[in-house]
Amino acid sequence: MKRAQAAGSETGERLQKILSRAGVASRRAAETLIEHGRVTVNGETVRELGTRADAAGDDIRVDGVRVRLAAAHAYILLNKPRGVVTTRHDPQKRPTVMDLVPALAGLFPVGRLDVSTEGLMLLTTDGNFAERVAHPRFQVPRVYHAKVWRVPEPETLARLRQGVRVEGERLGVDQARVLHAGNNAWLELTLHEGKHHEVRRLLKAVGHPVSKLKRVALGPLTTRGLQPGEYRHLRPAEVKALMHGGAARPAAGAASRRSRPASRPR
Ligand code: URA
Repeated sequence: MKRAQAAGSETGERLQKILSRAGVASRRAAETLIEHGRVTVNGETVRELGTRADAAGDDIRVDGVRVRLAAAHAYILLNKPRGVVTTRHDPQKRPTVMDLVPALAGLFPVGRLDVSTEGLMLLTTDGNFAERVAHPRFQVPRVYHAKVWRVPEPETLARLRQGVRVEGERLGVDQARVLHAGNNAWLELTLHEGKHHEVRRLLKAVGHPVSKLKRVALGPLTTRGLQPGEYRHLRPAEVKALMHGGAARPAAGAASRRSRPASRPR
């Protein structure tokens, strides 16, 4: 059987880190377990603290009991194209977001975008993460670019920020501004919740129905580098940022670059 890798080895992961990730003990307590000779890797007792192992491939045991890491969760950022439905199964057999990402067990979309909306959509296997991102309590900002009929007056933008009662429900935005104005306008709107058809209902209610809608940012994430239909896995730091600091504004980049008054959103 394969041996554990010696302390100087650069491959694998430190044994105490694996034990703490698996929830066996804190890193410090795991070091004590190792020093006391209670940990084996592939049948050999390991006492040296720098020893590395492969969490997925090696047989790691504490007091003879196999240590297993929970399967890693998946976190996928998709640039959803228009015409694709946000659902796991569509009885009408239309294309869904699931057709565009790997078929991972337990993967589901976080929140939803209308079939005619394009842009940033997260999919995950991690229910805690989904709750954290989707719940208005955590104030994760969502930034939309909306093409609307005519050009809203500054007073109308102020009304959007104050909140408007639509069909008995109060809808509103945190920020609203005009990105480009011609006969019609492109607006940038920032919200921290995702009520059903919220942007479309709100803008229709103030007399500026939406003809195109894109979600361009969510917390620190943007669709930069992803064409509609493309996806990528989130980096661990991005998952962490959304779990712990979702309220952070998107980094300077796509959203802000596109929001210069002279630039027409694509
Ligand atoms: N608001 C809407 O009206 N539609 C979306 O898809 C997202 C937000």
